[in-house]
Amino acid sequence: MEPHDTLSPAQVDEYRKNGFLVQEHVFDEEEIELLRAEAAQEFASGGERVTVEQNTGIVRGVHGCHLYSEVFGRLVRSPRLLPIARQLLRDDVYVHQFKINAKRAFKGEVWEWHQDYTFWHHEDGMPAPRALSAAIFLDEVTEFNGPLTFVPGGHGSGMIDADVKGEGWANTLTASLKYSLDVETMRGLIERNGMVAPKGPRGSVLWFDANIPHSSVPNISPFDRGLVLITYNSVENKTDVTRGTRPEWLAARDFTPLTALQATSF
Ligand code: SIN
Ligand code: MN
Repeated sequence: MEPHDTLSPAQVDEYRKNGFLVQEHVFDEEEIELLRAEAAQEFASGGERVTVEQNTGIVRGVHGCHLYSEVFGRLVRSPRLLPIARQLLRDDVYVHQFKINAKRAFKGEVWEWHQDYTFWHHEDGMPAPRALSAAIFLDEVTEFNGPLTFVPGGHGSGMIDADVKGEGWANTLTASLKYSLDVETMRGLIERNGMVAPKGPRGSVLWFDANIPHSSVPNISPFDRGLVLITYNSVENKTDVTRGTRPEWLAARDFTPLTALQATSF
């Protein structure tokens, strides 16, 4: 494993310019096997934290695992993640949201174009886009298994007006997203900046900005595309719990700054 405690100045510049950054070989095979086994248990746990694909009823994702699983509770405090989240957000951080998206072979459905901050602002009362996500690859991500796709530099447009579908928070989790970006908006952004779908081996980490427009196509390959997505928020950017509508497993209520693990397990 290469040292990954903080990013180099060139990596920070790349992240600020593009709104995302990939690091390969952050977690080794043994660690990924442990995370995959724990993810399988979470998928099988049933209950309100598990969401399913609309067309087939197979598992789409599970939220809030860091609150229930000791392994994922340790992962969010990893010395390979936490110092980088702090470095990029220039502050102490806590976990606002945690999810594992399954994107199963043949069955994993679309994620429409959106910005995460729109959800965190409207649904959870997050005051500013001082948050980011780390996506940990539980499988190799290829052009065929529904990679996350970004408009490089698109975070520079700030929060863009979105099409709003439906009431309540249930469709903040489904393929038909509550806040999605329309075709004219996306055409303008993509004509200017293009699209990039970062690929990489399992164990990679993909960092991305709260305001970067992103999507992912259905998984037409015979291989799953599992991702653990951890959203860190600056402790100065606490959500307004009086405005928040979503349960704690979807939007944190505990703003205690995280401390890095001392042990080497994650
Ligand atoms: C997300 O937009 O938060 C996740 C999309 C995906 O898993 O492809
Ligand atoms: Mn998203």
